[in-house]
Amino acid sequence: MKFFVDTANLDQIKEAKQLGILDGATTNPSLMAKEGIKGKSNIFKHYAEICDIVQNDVSAEVISVDFDGMIKEAEELVQISEHIVVKIPMIKDGIKAIRYLSDKGIKTNCTLVFSAGQAILAAKAGATYLSPFIGRVNDITWDGIELIKEIAEIYSVQLYDTEILAASIRSPRQIVECAKYGADVVTSPLNSILGLLRHPLTDNGLEKFLADHRKSQA
Ligand code: E4P
Repeated sequence: MKFFVDTANLDQIKEAKQLGILDGATTNPSLMAKEGIKGKSNIFKHYAEICDIVQNDVSAEVISVDFDGMIKEAEELVQISEHIVVKIPMIKDGIKAIRYLSDKGIKTNCTLVFSAGQAILAAKAGATYLSPFIGRVNDITWDGIELIKEIAEIYSVQLYDTEILAASIRSPRQIVECAKYGADVVTSPLNSILGLLRHPLTDNGLEKFLADHRKSQA
């Protein structure tokens, strides 16, 4: 399973890169706004900086909700870097845009996916990545991991090439479950990725080993 970091914060992206496990990054308009990035040229400059750090797939989301607008934005976004993946919302014009961009060899990430039916449509349209939002499904008391399982089963039976990019991650446990149930990629905030490191027995064990080593040197 590939690891993407789900943030537009350059320090966090650098930290994830330095860990040596980073395969890509995802952003969205909310994450860009959180960093205080305003205006098209600043936004594009920020995407370029993210791409320079990541050196691999970086999702940048369109704002338009009509086909022509999405294509215009996509064509501008891909000029920023060879690493840009155009993030397109799961709406009717979005599906048309994914088909168009896919036919042109432009990578896409179909976002705001909450059902297996949507996942089938995005795969049929040729999306490179599909982003089911686990946390937001859980927020309404449904089961985000069940959604991953269902999509993984369909994609496996149908031999779809689209990669399942599990998004809206809220905990390290969800990353483990995504790996277990067939997500190809997980995009997560850095704190959940770092949460995978932590175990009290590791901390206690290390403390004991170091204490014993100190005693043996005394
Ligand atoms: C990433 O591609 C998604 O936009 C993001 O994971 C959404 O996360 P949220 O539900 O925590 O906002």
